[in-house]
Amino acid sequence: MESVDRNVAELLNDAMNDGVRFPTTWHDRCSPTPGTENRSIAFMPTSMKALRCGPLNGHIQVPGDKSISHRALILGALSTGVTTIKGLLEAEDVLATANALRRLGIPIERADAVWRVYGRGVGGLSAPDGPLDFGNSGTGVRLMMGVIAGHDMQVICTGDVSLCRRPMSRVLQPLKEMGLTVAESDRDMLPLTLQGSSDLIPIDYRLPMPSAQVKSAILLAGLHAPGATTVIEPEATRDHSERMLRHFGADLTILDRDDGTRAITVAGDSELQGANVIVPGDPSSAAFMTTAALIIPGSDITIENVLVNQTRFGFYQTVQEMGADLTLQNERNNGGEPVADIRVRASALKGVTVPAARAPSMIDEYPCLACLAAFAEGETRMDGLGELKVKESDRLAATRAGLSTCGVRVRIDGDSLIVAGSRTVPGGGIVETKQDHRIAMSFLTLGLASENPVTVDDSDMIATSFPEFTQLMAELGGKFKEARTLDREGSSE
Ligand code: S3P
Repeated sequence: MESVDRNVAELLNDAMNDGVRFPTTWHDRCSPTPGTENRSIAFMPTSMKALRCGPLNGHIQVPGDKSISHRALILGALSTGVTTIKGLLEAEDVLATANALRRLGIPIERADAVWRVYGRGVGGLSAPDGPLDFGNSGTGVRLMMGVIAGHDMQVICTGDVSLCRRPMSRVLQPLKEMGLTVAESDRDMLPLTLQGSSDLIPIDYRLPMPSAQVKSAILLAGLHAPGATTVIEPEATRDHSERMLRHFGADLTILDRDDGTRAITVAGDSELQGANVIVPGDPSSAAFMTTAALIIPGSDITIENVLVNQTRFGFYQTVQEMGADLTLQNERNNGGEPVADIRVRASALKGVTVPAARAPSMIDEYPCLACLAAFAEGETRMDGLGELKVKESDRLAATRAGLSTCGVRVRIDGDSLIVAGSRTVPGGGIVETKQDHRIAMSFLTLGLASENPVTVDDSDMIATSFPEFTQLMAELGGKFKEARTLDREGSSE
């Protein structure tokens, strides 16, 4: 617990001095920042080994939801008055957004674990004194592009090596229609120089892919455009932006249309008022503990205060279909979002087919589900995974490769992943995480129940979304061993 007021800069500095791991992403891994291209990189990732363990037991809380945390900071900045945020996820991705907002002139403080954002109103940001570095965070940079679009200022956006490989045109194309200019007009990837406008044009836009990030970027830009901006969603994606925009007083309408699509309209003359936000536990983080408890015989755990919003519930629905003993307890509403305590007991699972239509509600959970499916009887088929190829890594390829390394029969068929499960999973070997936090956590979870230990080549990236992962898993009974050097068999010193 923090007992004195400190701003984000101090917090970030302290974290660096304390050896918190985000410097590895922000500095050592961030080669494409203009002017630093030729810097020599001396970086040795921390490998981590998971060992088979006894039953998991106990009650835990996972850190705050990442999506809600980004949005709370951003909407706080665009409001007038003070926004207080309890339970903010203090992981690299969210700190990158906080830092970017601070560089855009928004005072942000933290005291006694409560974050305060002193908003400057819609259109109230000021130009930064240099490039904004969003680290590993696609959500941070894409949502902020929507905000930057509405300001007459030039901003260079960049990120780490992974983020600089991810497509940005999905967001830039609609924002350009609204009036954003991009200096590198034919580039799809960061770093990019954006020129916003205080004269944005409202648009009607049908999402070409199910992406909450694209939807949210357009709605945020729409706040700065006179008149109505509408996003049409053929498939529902996470709805935190809509809920939170209303919570901050925006004029937002949602229309479920006869053709099955949903139209979300934001009025550009909305004024936002600072609000209080309580961030519930992240269901994408809780998925790892859920998986571990299901596959380690004799386990019985409760994860308290988890977000159970239906647009994020696909993983939990799927494991229930697989036969998981999973119950929601104490269901309640927590500041506009549904939350519950999730009790999970070890279960005999069977393979299922996960329909493509479910993908948006569990898009970040597929690597973890694939590791869980390795322990289920029969085949699990996951359809409609095209979007996994453009996440922090190509997660479809990384998941298949990791499962093969662990002796699991797995194949890719188009955009589908098919895992042949078995009660005993060999494990062993070194899994290549491709610097992807969810690949690292998924395979460390698998290694807690496999016959042989599983080593991941790089655990540093876990700090982008869930810095407490190994500590919390260990509190339940999980066993990990950290190391810097690996021999060829994956044993570590
Ligand atoms: C997020 C949306 C998802 C998800 C990401 C967080 C958000 O991305 O993968 O981790 O907070 O809006 P897409 O909307 O691009 O699928």
